[in-house]
Amino acid sequence: MKAVVYAGVRTVKVVDVPDAELEQPADVVVRITSSAICGTDLHMYDGRTGAEPGLVLGHEPLGVIEQVGSAVEMVKRGDRVVMPTHLYCGVCVNCARGLSAACLRVRPGGFGAAYGYAGMGAYRGAQAELLRVPYADANCVPVPGEPGDDLEDDFVMLADAFVTGWHATELAQVFPGSTVAVFGAGAIGLLSAYSSLLKGAAEIYVVDQVPERLDKAAELGATPIDYRRGDPVQQIRDLRRVRGLPIGEEAMGGVKIGIDAVGFQACDRSTPGQENPAQIVSDLARLVDPTGHIGIAGVYTEKDLHPALEGHANGRLTVPWATLFAKGVSIGFGRTHDRRYTVLLRDLVLAGRARPSAVVTHHGRLEDAPELYRAFDQRAGGVIKAVLRP
Ligand SMILES: NC(=O)c1ccc[n+]([C@@H]2O[C@H](COP(=O)([O-])OP(=O)(O)OC[C@H]3O[C@@H](n4cnc5c(N)ncnc54)[C@H](O)[C@@H]3O)[C@@H](O)[C@H]2O)c1
Ligand SMILES: [Zn+2]
Ligand SMILES: [Zn+2]
Repeated sequence: MKAVVYAGVRTVKVVDVPDAELEQPADVVVRITSSAICGTDLHMYDGRTGAEPGLVLGHEPLGVIEQVGSAVEMVKRGDRVVMPTHLYCGVCVNCARGLSAACLRVRPGGFGAAYGYAGMGAYRGAQAELLRVPYADANCVPVPGEPGDDLEDDFVMLADAFVTGWHATELAQVFPGSTVAVFGAGAIGLLSAYSSLLKGAAEIYVVDQVPERLDKAAELGATPIDYRRGDPVQQIRDLRRVRGLPIGEEAMGGVKIGIDAVGFQACDRSTPGQENPAQIVSDLARLVDPTGHIGIAGVYTEKDLHPALEGHANGRLTVPWATLFAKGVSIGFGRTHDRRYTVLLRDLVLAGRARPSAVVTHHGRLEDAPELYRAFDQRAGGVIKAVLRP
């Protein structure tokens, strides 16, 4: 089968690899109809997080079941299914509590796993014609319709981008009336903003510097903040003041909720062209109001092979702890407990209340992966979210 593999820093290739096969009785093999490229793939593409050449990339699959293991009971050949990024067994003590990203059985010696992801288990990726899905009864989420129909892009966003956007709003405790600032206008930030909107947030600001991404934030109903025009924290405080705060609430002139949808490769605002992994948390500490909440969905890695700043190879950051303590801010981190949200968000799509496909800008065949990765990595050509259709 054809697959997209990591071939070295900023190089992916489309090569022939052995077909995905059933390996365990609980497996299925899925023929992939859509497979999205993610900002997480870029951390590997940039040579930062230790991907080995030859790794089949991709963790956002949608497809049709082609082969079924003897122990699989809940899905069958021909079913159209979406598979959450972070695979899980479905029954261990963490999965049973809905904490599937911390599954204790999918990565012996560790917890949690993902397809095509350095350091997250030996599972081949989904940017390929076929994908082996273990624990298929747990990991295959059925969706109706036919491949290529008008919900294809909405359903593939259920594998990761929409659930992670939603997860960020859960970590940050968004609820009706919230004021929200999202840093990062990639698919994750945009879908965090969109999820906030679905939850009834009153004001939503989205910070980035890429014009097409800021335009998309506005199209979705958020207020775009271009950080090239000055300190985004001050810009948001100024906008909040213009709208007027009730008397006595001046100390609440920031936002109640802050979301990090950027991660460790954040641009350093004071030194354009350089990264600063502590940029977002330091901005959020200044912006979030007393008693506010922060949700961190952007990835931070314990192993950065080429850290932008000396001393940052192991993910240790200088964080304005005292400010966060004084304000009584709560912080939630981490990978999405996909299965908790996948079905709920699928049903929002089916009810016509959510169209996460709004962030998809590009489509291609597997052969187009090298060019799409290059453009996406440079945040160029208007690429926000690209979907491969093998
Ligand atoms: N927690 C999870 O389960 C999970 C799942 C998927 C993705 N992620 C992570 O979420 C992050 C975003 O993913 P994506 O696909 O949207 O990636 P992306 O690379 O498309 O988007 C990141 C955006 O951040 C912007 N940015 C960089 N520095 C900034 C700064 N200082 N201030 C504001 N914006 C800044 C970039 O311009 C870019 O538009 C990545 O770190 C990815 O690995 C986490
Ligand atoms: Zn992803
Ligand atoms: Zn489990």
